[in-house]
Amino acid sequence: MIKIAPSILASDFSRMGEEIKKVERAGADLIHIDVMDGHFVPNITIGPPVIKSLRPVTGLNFDVHLMIENAGEYIDSFIDAGADLISVHVECNYHLNRVIQKIRQKGKKAAVALNPATPLSAVEWVLSDVDMVLLMSVNPGFGGQNYIESVTEKIKDLRSMIKAKKLDIDIEVDGGIDLNNIRRVTEAGANVIVAGTTIFNAVNTAEIIKELRENAHQG
Ligand code: DX5
Ligand code: ZN
Repeated sequence: MIKIAPSILASDFSRMGEEIKKVERAGADLIHIDVMDGHFVPNITIGPPVIKSLRPVTGLNFDVHLMIENAGEYIDSFIDAGADLISVHVECNYHLNRVIQKIRQKGKKAAVALNPATPLSAVEWVLSDVDMVLLMSVNPGFGGQNYIESVTEKIKDLRSMIKAKKLDIDIEVDGGIDLNNIRRVTEAGANVIVAGTTIFNAVNTAEIIKELRENAHQG
């Protein structure tokens, strides 16, 4: 089953609660929230207080993508704010295993995220400890960028690696996903699809989510 996760980075920030309700009504499976610190990535977005204020507006799970340094120090704050699934980047966490343990000890789902140029070997020894791997298909920091084609091969390799280890892990792909490339990424093995611009720029939200699902390859 393919899950569609609208990224609220592309929503109208002055009406974020309504934007979340809109995608929920339109059939979204989870809400992707991009947290940026101006250090790991060249942009600053939102943090725990905003997430906490959004928590009551929807029953959907919050998929919190942390593009921040020292993520381990902030795990409690994000969980208290209402995160259900937390992704941390391998590039900026020295003690990746410890951060994953911290998330799971609090009963939440843990994921590791990789930039487009980061090799899969970086997550090989944490695969059995995570619920999901997030593969960035743009360089993190901004919405509305083009999908980096080499990531399709990377998704395939990761799916093989997961199968070889007899694990059951979601692969999320994030960045530049549209009605055309969703087929390729899902065929390659991704099953959680982030889409910001494609969903929030569409005139009819329910229609675009339905079309994304129709165009996706259902494993
Ligand atoms: C980029 C973010 C993505 C981004 C996706 O750093 O992690 O979630 O908002 O947006 P689109 O779908 O517009 O590329
Ligand atoms: Zn993201």
